[in-house]
Amino acid sequence: MQKSDTFNICFVCLGNICRSPLAQGVFERLVKSEGLQDKILVSSAGTGDWHVGDPPDRRMNETASKKGIPLKNRAKQFQAVDFDRFDLVLAMDRHNKIDLEKLCSPSAAENQLKLFRSFDDEANGELEVPDPYYGGQGGFENVFQIVQRTCPNILDFAKARLNHSK
Ligand code: 4NP
Repeated sequence: MQKSDTFNICFVCLGNICRSPLAQGVFERLVKSEGLQDKILVSSAGTGDWHVGDPPDRRMNETASKKGIPLKNRAKQFQAVDFDRFDLVLAMDRHNKIDLEKLCSPSAAENQLKLFRSFDDEANGELEVPDPYYGGQGGFENVFQIVQRTCPNILDFAKARLNHSK
C-alpha cells in the first residue's frame, strides 16, 4: 500500500555528497522528462552525519555537470521516521542497507528497502555502487554510468506502483 497519492523515493549512501545526490539528480531529470514530477517525489540522504548541510562533492558535481545534470542537493542524514514517508528507500551499498535496517521494522526492511543495484540489469552479481570518495576520477565516472543505466528501471518500478495504487 502506498503512503500517499505520490510515490516517494529516497536514495541513500554514506555521506549524501557523492552517490545518492547523483542518483537524485539523474532520477529527477528522468521523472521530469516524463512529466511525472507531481507524482514521483525524489530525495536523498546519508546514513552518516559528517556532511550534513554540505553541497555535493566537487568531483561528483563536475562529473554530473559535464553530462548536463548539475547537483543542487544539500546533505541530510536519514532518520528512522523517514521510513514513514518513503515508499522506496534505495541503499547504494550493503553497509548503507545494514545501517538502514537498524532504523526500521522488519516489515519496512522487507517492503521498502532495497539495494540500488538490484535494479541494474548489468550488475552481474555486483550489487554495490562503489564508494568513489577516496579514489580517482574514474570512480566517479563509473558511478555515473551505473546510476544512469539503472535509473530508468527504477522509474518503471515507480510507475508500476503508481498504476497499481489507482
Ligand atoms: P557518499 O561518499 O557516501 O557516496 O556520499 C562518501 C562521502 C564521504 C565519506 C565517505 C563516502 N567520508 O568518509 O566522509
